[in-house]
Amino acid sequence: MERIATRVTALLGTSYPIVQGGMIWVAGWKLARAVSDAGGLGLIGSGSMSPDLLREHITKLTSATDAPFGVNVPIFNRHADAFIEVCIACGVKIVFTSAGSPGKYTARLKDCGVTVVHVVPSARLAQKAAAAGCDAVVAEGTEAGGHNGFEELTSMSLWPAAVDAVPIPVIAAGGIVDGRGMAAALATGAEGVQLGTRFAVTVESSASEGYKAAAVKAAEADAKLYLRRYMPTRALVNPYVRQAMDAEAAGAATDVLDEIRGRGRARRGIFEGDAQDGEMEIGQAVGRIGDIPTAAQVVARLVSQYVETIASLNNTIGSSGVGDQQQLNRTDT
Ligand SMILES: Cc1cc2nc3c(=O)[nH]c(=O)nc-3n(C[C@H](O)[C@H](O)[C@H](O)COP(=O)(O)O)c2cc1C
Repeated sequence: MERIATRVTALLGTSYPIVQGGMIWVAGWKLARAVSDAGGLGLIGSGSMSPDLLREHITKLTSATDAPFGVNVPIFNRHADAFIEVCIACGVKIVFTSAGSPGKYTARLKDCGVTVVHVVPSARLAQKAAAAGCDAVVAEGTEAGGHNGFEELTSMSLWPAAVDAVPIPVIAAGGIVDGRGMAAALATGAEGVQLGTRFAVTVESSASEGYKAAAVKAAEADAKLYLRRYMPTRALVNPYVRQAMDAEAAGAATDVLDEIRGRGRARRGIFEGDAQDGEMEIGQAVGRIGDIPTAAQVVARLVSQYVETIASLNNTIGSSGVGDQQQLNRTDT
């Protein structure tokens, strides 16, 4: 397959500007390895691990592949300090930070020669990440699965705004499942894509079979944003999510929502496949997922459909044909 070269592939050392998002209960060393070996960048999602388990996953991944890989560290996580030190001690070269201030760990990581990419939900926060010294940002629209920004900016509004706001490369996320989405993202000026939902529903994902089966069945409107004023999260609607949404609509205070949420919801939903009471974090793109391929198949499809899409768009430009016809119609009216 062709290589696709952007500043993101140069920064990450990959063949394709495709990143598999770090995901709690989904992205262990096996998924990251499959994506990295296929020419993208696989990320271990540390958010559902202990520091010791993260070390174990990094060690296994390091001995399983020579391809570049990274680790996602959610900054609000209680183990974040330890995760950062484990990454440095294990010689991890790329860290994607998310959900917190990019000022917190960027300098420490950069001092140790680590490439730092920060996930942002707005152009304003992309500027903050650039000012903190990050090498790139992931601009994630509200379509995305998992925790979201309060701004609820859609991908098509966010991606070009982020591109215009910062000199560093932008990786687009939120709603991309195929090569058409990837072409749309790169057309806005983004230089890479990060996919979560699509990679969560693959053979190597450590999500439960129940989660994967529910995703294959779901339509796009089944992935709801809830806890919008407190901890915006996009997940498959089910009795638990509906209960929390009803409480929110009735004006429930944060401590009441906190109690409804309780502990371990994401584990139950994603890892144990509890479709009634678990939180199955997933994005709107779930509506276009109809199978459970390998991660390598996902990467191959993305690349070939991206190439086809660009070729077909090129065919729309010319001195005769559709373009002229549209011009004629406009002149007629
Ligand atoms: C099940 C699941 C868990 C996620 N966990 C995390 C996480 O721990 N850290 C993070 O930065 N993003 C997390 N995300 C977001 C993804 O990394 C990615 O940015 C997002 O899914 C992209 O949008 P998409 O779902 O439309 O592809 C998660 C997404 C899903 C679906």
